[in-house]
Amino acid sequence: MTTIGATLKQRAIRAMVRQFHQPRGLAGRLAGWIMAHRDSNLRRNRWAVSLLDIGPTDRVLEVGFGPGIAIAELTGRATRGHVYGVDHSEVMVRQAARRNAAAIRAHRVHLAHASVDRLPDFGEPFDAVLAVNSVGMWPDPVEGLRRIRRLLRSGGRIALVSQPRCPGATRDTTARAAQELQDLLTRAGFTRLRAETLELDPPAACVLADNPADDPADDPADDPAG
Ligand SMILES: C[S@@+](CC[C@H](N)C(=O)[O-])C[C@H]1O[C@@H](n2cnc3c(N)ncnc32)[C@H](O)[C@@H]1O
Repeated sequence: MTTIGATLKQRAIRAMVRQFHQPRGLAGRLAGWIMAHRDSNLRRNRWAVSLLDIGPTDRVLEVGFGPGIAIAELTGRATRGHVYGVDHSEVMVRQAARRNAAAIRAHRVHLAHASVDRLPDFGEPFDAVLAVNSVGMWPDPVEGLRRIRRLLRSGGRIALVSQPRCPGATRDTTARAAQELQDLLTRAGFTRLRAETLELDPPAACVLADNPADDPADDPADDPAG
């Protein structure tokens, strides 16, 4: 391949990768279609939801829901609960809303166009939070995870999933991604970390953790300075 050919190819790959970070326009719709139909993507999302142990009345939040595959799975488990989602791509909000239209009409699913660094007010605390192949794209993952921890009830669960999609990714790439997720969760104050692996190519890693019970030292009401 000529140098120009190689440069153009690299540019095209970079442009397509950007579409998975924040799908926009026609190419973004195509990225959403791929995520909604790729077998490994479907299996990864269903597996992640199964690990979160969702109960019928749970309130759940997904950050970076993409085409809304996990949102539909969560709704199937939280049959008397509520599923919330945020994604900073308008194209993904539209695709996920179409995919979950009946549950939205029934006021069981609530999707918002928002970034993890500017989350809306959700009212009551969540029982569980999920993010699949999204944390690596957040501007400040530790700050984002701290913000999410404040939205979780004491003892609430979080599941972060990573299946590296970079060319040449291997089992080692997944292991490093899992370690990074564990470090981020620890720095954000989560406890009881445990990791699971799904045998895809490359494998997907899911790191689960809990929001520890309230620490009175964190309560601003106890601060003599007010
Ligand atoms: C690779 S896609 C994964 C989508 C979905 N979780 C799945 O596995 O099918 C990443 C998604 O995270 C969203 N995202 C990335 N950064 C975000 C942020 N800062 N706030 C909210 N959503 C974000 C993107 O718009 C995209 O829909």
